[in-house]
Amino acid sequence: MSSFSALPVALQHKLASATRSSSSVVMAMTNLNIIRNIIFVLFILRFVRRSFYTLRGQGIIGYIRHAYSQIRVFVYSLFLRAPGVRGKVDKQIAETLTKLEAKLTPQGPGVIKFTSLPKEAWTAEQVQAELDKLSAMEHTKWEDGRVSGAVYHGGSDLLKLQTAAFSQFAVANPIHPDVFPGVRKMEAEIVAMVLALFNAPQGAAGVTTGGGTESILMACLSARQKAYAERGVTEPEMILPETAHAAFNKASEYFGIKVHSVRCPTPDYKVDIRSVRRLINPNTILLVGSAPNFPHGIVDDIPALSRLAVTYKIPLHVDCCLGSFVIAFLKHAGYPSPYEDEGGFDFRLPGVTSISVDTHKYGFAPKGNSVVLYRNRVLRSYQYFILPNWPGGVYASPSIAGSRPGALIASCWASLMSMGESGYTDSCHKIVGAAKKFEEAIREHPELSKSFKVVGQPMVSVVAFASNTPQVDIYDVADAMSAKSWHLNALQSPAAMHIAFTIPTAAAVDNLIADLVLVVAEERAKAAERVRQGKAAERKRGDASALYGVAGSIPDKTIVRRLAEGFLDTLYLA
Ligand SMILES: Cc1ncc(COP(=O)(O)O)c(C=O)c1O
Repeated sequence: MSSFSALPVALQHKLASATRSSSSVVMAMTNLNIIRNIIFVLFILRFVRRSFYTLRGQGIIGYIRHAYSQIRVFVYSLFLRAPGVRGKVDKQIAETLTKLEAKLTPQGPGVIKFTSLPKEAWTAEQVQAELDKLSAMEHTKWEDGRVSGAVYHGGSDLLKLQTAAFSQFAVANPIHPDVFPGVRKMEAEIVAMVLALFNAPQGAAGVTTGGGTESILMACLSARQKAYAERGVTEPEMILPETAHAAFNKASEYFGIKVHSVRCPTPDYKVDIRSVRRLINPNTILLVGSAPNFPHGIVDDIPALSRLAVTYKIPLHVDCCLGSFVIAFLKHAGYPSPYEDEGGFDFRLPGVTSISVDTHKYGFAPKGNSVVLYRNRVLRSYQYFILPNWPGGVYASPSIAGSRPGALIASCWASLMSMGESGYTDSCHKIVGAAKKFEEAIREHPELSKSFKVVGQPMVSVVAFASNTPQVDIYDVADAMSAKSWHLNALQSPAAMHIAFTIPTAAAVDNLIADLVLVVAEERAKAAERVRQGKAAERKRGDASALYGVAGSIPDKTIVRRLAEGFLDTLYLA
């Protein structure tokens, strides 16, 4: 049937093409609407999914608590920026930093600062004389066992051996295994020895790193890469005990991994397993437990974490950086080893996929040594960095550093070999024996037990204690102990302090107990005097008390951040 129209042919064509184009516009609009709706639905689904996991993870009360604390932080930050307050805060921060500078950087007429190269090369004698002066600078005496952690052995025979190994391999760099084959061999053997100590299965693997933080960074990176490669996770999350080392938060910032920090409630201060389970979601790339943690020396419930890891098929990292060779030798030394009847705390548990172990702590190697261990080589390969098409040649490096000090690897190897199982068993005896003696004094000494309580049940080398009476402020105790030349660690949430026993501190445990008894008596006397004076009493605050007691009690952490930043800046003042 032919069509008929009164319109001229040219107009008919225009109309037809206009109708065609308007219908294609309508089609396009419809498609656009569909796409827009799909995007909207996806967005809503994502939002609902996220909200569901957040609510399930934190619980309604946790969610409200979190919102409340955020509001408090905000209100305090407004208060700190208010006219009048801000100026005072700035002034106090400046004063504190000036004091810090005076304390940390030597001043005065006798001090020569070298801020440019000497015009003429110094003789070896000149250099040595200056080095002698530098090592004799006034410092807290670790040699007398007055420093928590820091120097874990310090014995002169071991130091001599380490120095010899260092000088023999001073030029070595494991990036050139053909040039320094001895270093490659030693590095591989260190990893193998530490794997054996932590009951690694056949096929397990590891690398040496420059320290605990780097080992932890690598374990987090490996877990993130694994989740991305095998499950396509692009918004990775990890679940940590709130007592886990700050290195995990560093990994979070460096590698864009969201952290869920789980409370470690009293009385045992172990990570709350139910909260961990509730926080697991498809974005979870890693669970973490410490054996033991830095603040309180508590070993988390690793068997329970392992069960979660197996059930949900998520990697589990156990941080044994601090525990290192002491936790590994507890059983040999005749002490209870954590969770022995539930499979232990290491690779014997099927869920444990990686462990960090600091050879530079209780392995007694020089600083700059640690190991990260993996259940298998695939996990290790996720931390490797490989650049096949680099103009400088095919580039492959196992960890963060490019060039690495072969000398440190040699010194580490020499330390491990010279200590041997017998040496580590013996040192475990000394260190854990001293920790137990100190813990017993806090719990049972008539003066100490009425002022302090031990935090949880420490099992390894760290003992943390808090005040159990308003008459004794733990930060005042920390300051008073500093005045007696002790360098112990102040802790927060809860307010407490700790000591990590080492070979030097183990030898000084009786002095430590005696000084603590004196200090607590002085603090009680001061408190009684304050009560007598009533409102007129002025409280003199030391560093720990000011930082943790005053600044630390403010929910907004800007002041603490500024002080910490100022501290870091001070380190670089020549
Ligand atoms: C439990 C724990 N993990 C990790 C680290 C980090 O080790 P490093 O200071 O060698 O980076 C420490 C340090 O004290 C620690 O105690």
